[in-house]
Amino acid sequence: APGRPTTTNLLGKEYPTDDKTNITPAIAEKLGRKLYLQPSHPLGILRELIESHFNNFTAHSGFSPIVTPAKNFDDLGFPADHPGRALSDSYYINNESMLRTHTSAHEVEVFARGDRRWLLTSDVYRRDEIDSTHYPVFHQMEGARVFRSTPEGMTELEQDNARLSEHLAQSNIVIEDVPHSSPTNPIPSIYSNHDAERMVLNLKLSLNSLMLALFGGRAGSAEEPLRVRWIEAYFPFTSPSFEVEVFFHGKWIEILGCGLVQQRTLQLANIPHDVSWAFGLGLERIAMILFAIPDIRLFWSTDSRFLDQFTPGKISTFKSYSKYPPCHKDVSFWLPSEGLHDNDVFDLVRDVVGDLAEDVKMIDGFTHPKTQRTSRCYRINYRSMDKSLSNDEANALHTDVITQLRDRFGVEIR
Ligand code: PHE
Repeated sequence: APGRPTTTNLLGKEYPTDDKTNITPAIAEKLGRKLYLQPSHPLGILRELIESHFNNFTAHSGFSPIVTPAKNFDDLGFPADHPGRALSDSYYINNESMLRTHTSAHEVEVFARGDRRWLLTSDVYRRDEIDSTHYPVFHQMEGARVFRSTPEGMTELEQDNARLSEHLAQSNIVIEDVPHSSPTNPIPSIYSNHDAERMVLNLKLSLNSLMLALFGGRAGSAEEPLRVRWIEAYFPFTSPSFEVEVFFHGKWIEILGCGLVQQRTLQLANIPHDVSWAFGLGLERIAMILFAIPDIRLFWSTDSRFLDQFTPGKISTFKSYSKYPPCHKDVSFWLPSEGLHDNDVFDLVRDVVGDLAEDVKMIDGFTHPKTQRTSRCYRINYRSMDKSLSNDEANALHTDVITQLRDRFGVEIR
């Protein structure tokens, strides 16, 4: 873009910018906050809860969010044309570096350390819509367990499966299962069918037991069982792959993705004779349920009315302090001839008004039949979490947004 600075400073280091650079100041500011390391922050409390459930796993954190696209995508088998790589979906610092979009970006290096049971928590970044459940920065936890594909390794696996099955049989949980593998969710050739079936069983038992530790007696009521649903899924770096959902407040909520680790990862990590399962879960989604937090922006709040409510090691219900009134404003414009991605509008709003935008929705769009020009209308809902916004304040914010839309993207305001 014209007028783009030639370098950008992130976590105390200068990075050259180029025509791939799309990280915005609002995002750059979030790097290094490490919410998940604060012991009395809901994300920190949840991290510790999961770490204590997997108490014989090594817990990692603090890995830099700045990675190469190779680490985030290629090493994990993402094809060259995968949509996640697009500038409209991910944040690039320049052609060589980006903000990780998932914790799986660190699988190869942690496996390469020789860790056989591990967890890794970090902030991840994705360009996305703006509403109460989406935020361009969120947190994931990756977990994996490695077994030797030898008779001894498989005996260890059998023993663990027996122990976990017994524990789950005594618990108030109802599981909707899927087959361990299928023609559309195949077992890779490095695994014998028999070993893979036992590995998938171990994965399912381990994660069902985690769901029970997190949600048991909380989703539903004390007498009602916890309902967990397994669904066949696809990830380039696992097969078979699954998603796990939990039934909460009348809805199925997606909690995590998982599967058996593909050969490419094990080979790059120099453990070609081992087998492993891995999972990745989003912390915000779970924390919003467990702590009854209604808006994802609250995790970033520095307001003591939010932070002082929580106690290390304890799940407690968030008490909403007064919600200040919202104020919505619309903006309509003709798109520039090269078009404009929704995510570019969302990032600009974040950049100009920060967390004062509660949600942004496209409410109208059409193409003029004669001129072929496209018009869009966005509705921005302004609401502060800390005070009542006056109409004048909301107008001033909206004017800034409109000016920036015109100056940065060349849209024609209607
Ligand atoms: N990284 C995947 C995601 O973000 C989740 C995942 C992790 C899936 C590990 C399989 C194994 O959606």
